[in-house]
Amino acid sequence: MGSWGASRPWEFAWRRTSRGIDRIPAGSPRGAHQHLADAAETLLRENWREGTRHDGVPYAFTCPATPRYRHQWYWDSCFHAITWRHFEPARARAELRTLLRAGRLDGFIPHTAFWDWPARWRRAPFYGTHTTFGCSATATIQTPLLALAWELVAEASDDDPGFATEALPALRLHYDWLDRERDPDRDGLLTIILPDESGLDDSPKYDDVFGWMRHDLPGHVWLVERYRRLGYDAGQIAARYDEHVEDVVVNVFYALALRALSRLDDEHGSVYAQRAARTEAALLDRCLDERTGLFLDLAGRRERQVAVSTWSALAPLALTDLPVDVRRRLVEEHLLDDRRYRAPVGIPSVSQEEPSFEPGFSLWRCWRGPSWVNTAWLLVPAMRELGYEEEAARIVDSLARAAARYGFREYYNPHTGRGLAARGFGFSTLLIDLLRPAETEPSVAPPIMHP
Ligand code: GLC
Repeated sequence: MGSWGASRPWEFAWRRTSRGIDRIPAGSPRGAHQHLADAAETLLRENWREGTRHDGVPYAFTCPATPRYRHQWYWDSCFHAITWRHFEPARARAELRTLLRAGRLDGFIPHTAFWDWPARWRRAPFYGTHTTFGCSATATIQTPLLALAWELVAEASDDDPGFATEALPALRLHYDWLDRERDPDRDGLLTIILPDESGLDDSPKYDDVFGWMRHDLPGHVWLVERYRRLGYDAGQIAARYDEHVEDVVVNVFYALALRALSRLDDEHGSVYAQRAARTEAALLDRCLDERTGLFLDLAGRRERQVAVSTWSALAPLALTDLPVDVRRRLVEEHLLDDRRYRAPVGIPSVSQEEPSFEPGFSLWRCWRGPSWVNTAWLLVPAMRELGYEEEAARIVDSLARAAARYGFREYYNPHTGRGLAARGFGFSTLLIDLLRPAETEPSVAPPIMHP
């Protein structure tokens, strides 16, 4: 088990800034934070899967949670690698290399890869695969942050300095594929064709867009079948139907990843920096709702703004190249507002003001209110950078208390802190990345939550 004492390779915290990645030497946190770090490491080790697929391709990755999530998910793997780099950077690298191997030679990388176990019969019809059974991966995407994760892991890879550049051709192909295949109207914003392509499956922002075919309703099977018949070709889908979205959270991570790729790539970096700037400008010009200061998805052929306040609308806070007043407004008018996103625990996935907001567990639906750790992971560093240190620390501390009491759960009730849904959930270990040892007090115990 790693100790956060002195001079081991993972004894650093990383901070994302406008300049890129800064290394901050860790302090010497003890007690509760050390327990959380140990628990995170144990969880990742328990969820680690490695072997060889039936066709001889080797794999090594962390499954999100057993028994519910046994496969490799794109954004989960990126988040797992970001935590792994604190404990065992070699596993972080193996996880990201596996994700690349799940992809195709043309640069496509799937939402889910079924390395060893095919999707079970009950869930198979819901996956965006080319045929209902027998595929080794989906033909759909998930929020594409691979280059961002790659850069963070490379920063922790003094023991393997070639890692930073070894995959540049494959990463370029991946981001070129996204640009070519997923931006049919060439406005710099990627389009998603199924709600789970963002990772925010049942978010209320998709309710009206996908209607009776939304992710949590039986009609979703029909949507998958309809798009399967079109080979998941976003160009054809965007031309014929209205059930597709230029999604804010997807495009925020896309821009962050393009910026990371531009820093990794000495030769072609400027191409990706320009693409990032184009995406950021499009978010500002087309998605920003001046009235509320929120960034809204654009839905369907008419590209109408979807006026539902979810954490996705706050995600551009992480884009340090956007005007600072626009970013501050997201904090001042939304994250600091008790009626909206300021809650006792974490950052709710939906504004508490929305009629659809539900803080508790639902068997069929997620992302409709509870606080997820990756949300805080994206927004908290930006709050710190803009000077909202105290509030940022409160959010992290509240999640740390919830995790200390309930373990790393899929999500938490933002009012009570109760841990909900999957247990031993991989990307909730991102909390370790947020506990900046030098600046946080090891004050998690005793827990204060009353379920
Ligand atoms: C759920 C989440 C999604 C995640 C997946 C695997 O579907 O909504 O974000 O990628 O589980 O953990």
